[in-house]
Amino acid sequence: MEIVKSGVREQLDVHRLREQFPVLARQVHGKPLVYLDNAATAQRPLAVIEAIDGFYRNYNANVHRGVHQLSVEASEAFEQSRQAVRRLLNARSEREIIFTRGTTEAINLVANSYLRPTIQAGDEILVSHMEHHSNIVPWQLLCEQTGAVLKVMPINQRGELLLDEAEAMISERTKLIGIVHVSNALGTVNPVAELCALAKQHGVPVLVDGAQATPHEKVDVQALGCDFYALSAHKMYGPTGIGALWGREELLEAMPPWQGGGEMITRVSFDGTTYNELPHKFEAGTPNIAGAIGLGAAVKWLEDIGVERIAAHEQKLLDHATERMSEVEGLTIIGQAAHKGPVVAFTLDGVHPNDLGTIIDHHGVAIRTGHHCAMPVMQFFGVAATARVSFACYNLRAEIDVFLDALEKARKMLT
Ligand code: ALA
Repeated sequence: MEIVKSGVREQLDVHRLREQFPVLARQVHGKPLVYLDNAATAQRPLAVIEAIDGFYRNYNANVHRGVHQLSVEASEAFEQSRQAVRRLLNARSEREIIFTRGTTEAINLVANSYLRPTIQAGDEILVSHMEHHSNIVPWQLLCEQTGAVLKVMPINQRGELLLDEAEAMISERTKLIGIVHVSNALGTVNPVAELCALAKQHGVPVLVDGAQATPHEKVDVQALGCDFYALSAHKMYGPTGIGALWGREELLEAMPPWQGGGEMITRVSFDGTTYNELPHKFEAGTPNIAGAIGLGAAVKWLEDIGVERIAAHEQKLLDHATERMSEVEGLTIIGQAAHKGPVVAFTLDGVHPNDLGTIIDHHGVAIRTGHHCAMPVMQFFGVAATARVSFACYNLRAEIDVFLDALEKARKMLT
C-alpha cells in the first residue's frame, strides 16, 4: 500500500526501483554501468518491456480495423494508452491526443497542418535561442517555402530566457511561438506559463517542446495555457519511435490532415474523400501499436512511482553534481539557470568533450558529448560541443561520485 504522510509520499527507494531496470545490472568495460545519458534516452522498466512483449505474444493485431477478438483487444489497449497520455498532460479529452513518432514529428505536424495553410510571407515565428533542432528546422523549412521569418528570443549567460525581450518581439505578424519546456542542452526550465500568458494577450498560440519535461515534472497543459504540447516516450521510460502531440481541440478540429492514407478517412472515392474525426484524422496508416502500448505502460509506471517523488530525488542528484563539479579545476558548467532540470552540461579547459566521454566510458560511465542537437545554443556560448550528464529516477548519488572519479582521471590524463 502506498504510504502517504501529510500529503507527501515517502521518498523513493532507489535501490529497489533499480531492480525494475534489467540493463542497470550489466557491466561495461568490466565495470558496473553508470548510466548518465538519460536526456538522450532513458532506460526501460520491466513494466514497459513486458507490456510490449505481452502485446506481441498475446494479442498482436491491427487496431480499429478488425471485428475479431485480437483486434478488439489491441484497439482497447491502444486507446487506453491514449487515455494514459491524456491523464499525464491533464488534457480535457482524448480527442486532443495524437500519437506521433515523437516530439519531432509532432512539431512537424503543427508546422505543416496548423501554420502552412495560413502563413504568409513576412509573418513571423518566434523560438528561443536554446531550442533543440526539432523546434528550429521545421520552422526554417516552412519559412524557406513561404517567405515567413524565424526570429530568435534571446537568453542570458546563465541560459535563461529573457521574458521581457521575448514579449517585446511579439507583434501582429507573430503567428506562433515555439518554446522548449526543459532544455536538453542546458537543463533550463523555461517560464512556459508566463510566456503563454503574455502570448495570449497578443492572441498568439504557443507550442511547447516537452520532450525533457514529462519524465521530470508534472505537466498540466491547461494550467500552462499552451496550445500545443509535444512529447517523446523514450525520454520518459517508454519505447523509441512513439510520442504524442497534444493540441487544443478547437485548433486540431480546424486543421487539415497532414499525412494521407488509411485510418484518417471516413470515405474515399475518386470524387473526393472525407476525413476521420479527431484524433484519427492525424494518424494515417497502421500506427506504432506496440510503441503506443509501451508508452501507456510508461505513463502508468510513472503514475505509480509519482513524478513529484522522482523530481525530489533528481533535484538532490542535481544539487550534489553541481556542487562537486563546480570544484573541478578547469570545469565550466554551461547552463546555470535558477530553475533547472536534472542536466549538467560542461566543458573542461583544453579537453575535447569526445575524448573525455571516451575515457569516462572506459570506467563504465555513459555520458553524452557533442552539440546535443542544439547547435545555436552552442554558438551562443562559444563552444562547439559540451559534455553532459543527465539524471533519471534510478540514479544514485554514489554514481555521481563514480563519474567524478572517472572525470578526474580523464582530466589528469588529458591535460
Ligand atoms: N537530443 C537528444 C539529447 O539531448 C538526443 O541527447
